[in-house]
Amino acid sequence: MLGSLKADILLQAAMRTETQLIIDREALQPIGAFDANSPAEAFTGKVGSRQVVLVTHGRDPTHQCDRIGTISAATTCAAALARFSPKLIVNIGTCGGFLARGGSICDLHLPERVAFHDQRVPIPGFREFARGELNTHPVDALRAELGALGGTCSSGGSLDATPEDRAILDTLEARCKDMEAAAIAFVARDWRVPFIAVKCVTDLVDDPEAVQDAFLRNLRSATMRLATAASALLRSDYLPV
Ligand code: ADE
Repeated sequence: MLGSLKADILLQAAMRTETQLIIDREALQPIGAFDANSPAEAFTGKVGSRQVVLVTHGRDPTHQCDRIGTISAATTCAAALARFSPKLIVNIGTCGGFLARGGSICDLHLPERVAFHDQRVPIPGFREFARGELNTHPVDALRAELGALGGTCSSGGSLDATPEDRAILDTLEARCKDMEAAAIAFVARDWRVPFIAVKCVTDLVDDPEAVQDAFLRNLRSATMRLATAASALLRSDYLPV
């Protein structure tokens, strides 16, 4: 089955915790590893007429933790595109929000644009390449249906943010900060597959509280909001597939 399985929708999440509720609610079945050189795992099922494949980045064999971050986001996405030929890629996961831009814990975002805040190359041409700004597939009606916000989601390799990261996040007027969306958008653009992201806020980047404390405290409630959003999204009439 795995060899011939094609996806209408590829849901990609970095952490298993972010997806377990979706797997349970949609009764997705495990199909295990789908790439011989990666610990990424896949689950599949039908939602209405749509074949859904959900992939997580898997656990790192050395450090025994989920493979969060831009590198595994890009490698997992490329492997899943090659294997499942999805018509739409949806990156689902948690993010940081910004008090300065009216953000609150558990806000839901479907960003209009992605970028990288921690890729800095002060040479013309490379500067813009490194910033990696890309528009997501336009989903205004879906955003309204889900009660989600728009704006820019900026990705980087760190959960925290240095002062330099913060300055770039402000220049971008980022409303979400994550560790995957811009990397997945980059691969999706090369494959010419429409890309959207669904992000729920676990922590506020410009709050004095340590980001990891807020993240761990709010992970469960954000995960519940993401699962509710995923159920609505997978059944929506406003998807391009
Ligand atoms: N995921 C959840 N919160 C985050 C943050 N502050 N930065 C990057 N990724 C996140």
